[in-house]
Amino acid sequence: MSSNRPTQGALCSNDSTTEGKPNGMDLTETPLLARETLHERFEVTEEFGFVSECPLTTLPEYFQPWTDIANNLQQLVLQKKIREAVEKLPLIDHNKLTTKAEWITAHMILAHIAQGYVWQNGEEGIPKVLPKSIAVPFHACSEYLQIPANMNNFNGVLVNWKLKDCNKAVNVENLDRITTLIGGDDEVWFFMVALMVEKKFGPALYAIADAQQAVSCQDDKKLESALRVIETAVHEMEEQLKRMKEGNDPSKFYDVIRPCLAGWNDPVFKKRGVDGLIYEGVSEKPISLPGGTSAESTTLSTLDAALGISHRPEDEIICEDFKKYMPPKHRELLIAVTKGPSIRKYVLTKRNPDLDAAYNGCLEAVKLFRNTHLQLVARYVIVPSRRNTSGQGRVFVGTGGTGFMQFLKGLRDSTLQAFIRKDPTDENFGIDGRKSSITSYRLLATAGVISVFGIACLAFFRKCR
Ligand code: HEM
Repeated sequence: MSSNRPTQGALCSNDSTTEGKPNGMDLTETPLLARETLHERFEVTEEFGFVSECPLTTLPEYFQPWTDIANNLQQLVLQKKIREAVEKLPLIDHNKLTTKAEWITAHMILAHIAQGYVWQNGEEGIPKVLPKSIAVPFHACSEYLQIPANMNNFNGVLVNWKLKDCNKAVNVENLDRITTLIGGDDEVWFFMVALMVEKKFGPALYAIADAQQAVSCQDDKKLESALRVIETAVHEMEEQLKRMKEGNDPSKFYDVIRPCLAGWNDPVFKKRGVDGLIYEGVSEKPISLPGGTSAESTTLSTLDAALGISHRPEDEIICEDFKKYMPPKHRELLIAVTKGPSIRKYVLTKRNPDLDAAYNGCLEAVKLFRNTHLQLVARYVIVPSRRNTSGQGRVFVGTGGTGFMQFLKGLRDSTLQAFIRKDPTDENFGIDGRKSSITSYRLLATAGVISVFGIACLAFFRKCR
């Protein structure tokens, strides 16, 4: 344990930490999170969660050639002139970026220019090479920030926002993006809903630290109230998610916004016999990177880790891959939560009905979030894809590159599996002893089989008569 990390004893209000540990829990070597140090250690806040509190909106004048393209990106792409503009760009010295905030803003601007450059002509005319005027500084920013040189949740959402009116509240109506792609107001709404979901996670993050401390101190009251804070926060995240349909039209999203978010691992690259994009001046081999996706958000992974929700191994592999695109400090926080005292094991060991209910309340909130998210995916991807017949029978691939429906349903189902059941012999009982939807699906399936069998018998008997 590092010296600046609080020890369990120092954080417990009672001194019960040395005796009567719940069975099977060795807490002595567990690194503890403390709300007091979360900001300093992991660059998060209770008010904004993983969202950067005050992103830098402009770069110094020296970088004006980048800013000029970024500020006119929509027009340049729509007029198919962005490639020309990028090819005329001089190679600007990225070492003139001084503060971390400047490196972050540069990474964000360059990521958006690269997206515009690649997708200007849609699937038809993808380039093989990203010119060095973008590739070299983009790669340098990526090295400096230790985050890949692609569009991701970090540069798409967490650091890419500003208030329309600084005197008004932070809500989706009062938010704008610093750098945009080509989707206009719908695109801003899409990203700012994602930002609000991230922001609402802030209180949950701090409550997770409280909850793990409560476990290590065996303070059931403190644990219960921390779990209630997590539950409320996740409900608020879901409320924000539901607002997506107010300002983001599904056709606009499917036809305009989503294609422009795709990465260089998109199947269309493979179809043309290339395995990614050559970053001129960086690598002679193509680099295959995914596009922007909120699946790289640290929020849900942190909830999974804190609540002990474990996924199918095949889904776990995909989740692991998304972690590569999280900022390093946020990834460290996720690891710390994973290694922290297990809230789930503690609740299971205690068999305290109030704790069971509070823990299940959190799972219910996560389940509802994932269900609402699945509905969004159906509305914004599956339904619009059916308009053109060529989309039928297609395996859907996310902007992050996953075949996603099975994956997303798998995550929702493992959330259901984690409920603490009143009857431990029944695998599928959900909150308060209600049958979970997995059980309902099974019942439906059984009913379906019985009906088909019945109809077949009826037909057979009719024929025999
Ligand atoms: C139109 C709205 C949205 C669509 C169509 C959509 C689509 C998808 C897709 C296809 C995936 C699978 C992974 C991949 O990208 O390849 C995914 C995963 C994910 N998305 Fe979204 N998404 C939307 C909005 C959001 C928002 C606003 C958030 C908020 C942070 C979000 C959070 C997540 C998370 C956390 C995952 C990982 C799966 C999980 O943990 O449940 N999504 N999304």
